[in-house]
Amino acid sequence: MEDLDAIVAEALDVFGAAADDAALDQCKARYLGKSGRLTEILKTLGKLDPEQRREVGGRINAAKERIESALTARRDTLAQSVLEARLREESIDVTLPGRARTRGSIHPISRTWQRVEEIFASIGFDVADGPEIETDWHNFTALNQPENHPARSMHDTFYVEGGLLLRTHTSPMQVRYARMHKPPIKVIAPGRTYRIDSDATHSPMFHQVEGLWIGENISFADLKGVYTDFLHRFFETDRLQVRFRPSFFPFTEPSAEIDMMFDSGPLKGRWLEISGSGQVHPRVIRNFGLDPERYVGFAFGSGLERLTMLRYGVGDLRLFFEGDLRFLEQFA
Ligand code: PHE
Repeated sequence: MEDLDAIVAEALDVFGAAADDAALDQCKARYLGKSGRLTEILKTLGKLDPEQRREVGGRINAAKERIESALTARRDTLAQSVLEARLREESIDVTLPGRARTRGSIHPISRTWQRVEEIFASIGFDVADGPEIETDWHNFTALNQPENHPARSMHDTFYVEGGLLLRTHTSPMQVRYARMHKPPIKVIAPGRTYRIDSDATHSPMFHQVEGLWIGENISFADLKGVYTDFLHRFFETDRLQVRFRPSFFPFTEPSAEIDMMFDSGPLKGRWLEISGSGQVHPRVIRNFGLDPERYVGFAFGSGLERLTMLRYGVGDLRLFFEGDLRFLEQFA
């Protein structure tokens, strides 16, 4: 008979070398399986006489128990090291610094847009919104610029299919809003506008804010008061001068260009053009569906880029549309 102690010692070695549960199961079969080493020895017991059988059987059982407990011990060790490996892999280093969260910021033109809305809303102006693709009638004809009117060539228009165009100014919103509301009409309409034009102070897409106040006695003096007050609040200073310079627009009479001059700062002492304006032309009032004998008032149209450039001292309008973070981050 083989030496049981040697078999046990060998089994212990083999188990110790098994790297995982599957390997361990195979090793187990080699000793305790159907044709395993110990099983084979057990089969020979029948040939022995009862006295020997009891003695040898006892020894074989003792060897089996040692092998089984070695198996269990090895299984526990393997399970333990799998667990430790997982813990090591999945552990979180709580001492690492957090990832910084990058923060966006409001675009300078949007800031101006919001501020303009806030200021006019605070003095009772409604805020309206309208289509950027316009009809020729709303953009020109209703504003007293019939076909072949020379003033139409002041605007280099993008035409789109179906006789429509990209609005060249926000003034068509005067017509749309006035035709949908009863006087008194008091509204601003900020939004995108388009002209075929591109240089340091012009972009093919730009923004305007239209203002319109129509009632039974809204005068040029009201325009002066409202607009001057707006400039003081927008630039957060009373130290600026405002002048209304005679000009021409087909849809206003009289018409004026609004200029302003800072009393301090880098732009000090220079007249800066800021807005078109005027008393709404009687023909336009009629196109609003109103009686020009009864209703009068003013309109203005200001460039949001222009207001933004003057407020922040930006020299080139194209910076607003290039998306360069080095520029935009300065407004965060
Ligand atoms: N729509 C004019 C422009 O784009 C500005 C303007 C608006 C002038 C309202 C007078 C009244 O230049």
